[in-house]
Amino acid sequence: MDGNGRWATARALPRVAGHRAGAESVRRVVEAAPKLGVRTLTLFAFSTDNWKRPHREVAALMRLFRAHLECETPKLVANGVRLRVIGRRDRLGDVLRGAIERAELATSDGTTLDLRVAIDYSARDAILRAAAQLQSSVVGHHVVSRETFAALLSDGDAVPDVDLLIRTSGEQRLSDFLLWECAYAELHFTPRLWPEFGADNLASAIDEFRRRERRFGAVPDAAAG
Ligand code: FPP
Repeated sequence: MDGNGRWATARALPRVAGHRAGAESVRRVVEAAPKLGVRTLTLFAFSTDNWKRPHREVAALMRLFRAHLECETPKLVANGVRLRVIGRRDRLGDVLRGAIERAELATSDGTTLDLRVAIDYSARDAILRAAAQLQSSVVGHHVVSRETFAALLSDGDAVPDVDLLIRTSGEQRLSDFLLWECAYAELHFTPRLWPEFGADNLASAIDEFRRRERRFGAVPDAAAG
């Protein structure tokens, strides 16, 4: 969800105003996603590297996450959205951690959309943690399947591989996001800043995705015969 800062700066507003506008985009996209056939949506809200930002900005983001969770949970429940927060929790404040736990519990029966919000998240750290778990649980020589490893990565949740990764604001990097899960992801880069990203932009990204030929390393059907 890149471009909040630039959106604010272009309007001579403080960066946090961009994050607030970004939260409105989150609301719009979460509402639109299930109607467009999306079953799992993961939003990268805060990376482990984002702690390097000025304290004021980090504190404002943490308050925004809490306020958003508290305010949106009833709507998520009504719309059948199941929320899970991925990433480390031990460095978050007690108040935010409590809000996350309440929102996850309240939405746990949702079946329309699996909404995953990554906070204090690093894909490389997640892979290391899964590997450490494996090391401590495997006795003798075991061949570890991809499925077993994927389940460890997502704390036992059956999370599918990423089909489509959308990156806003012209950035063209993965930035330590879902590295394992994105092995065959289709990438969509848009110059649009996140606060300007809406349901119609999601719809056209999905349209374009549906037109792509995904071969997963195989040859096209016509050539196979
Ligand atoms: C990156 O853009 C954005 C973030 C680090 C924060 C994302 C947070 C939100 C969209 C707020 C709402 C989120 C939830 C889950 C309620 P940037 O600040 O790096 O923008 P820039 O590249 O223009 O500086």
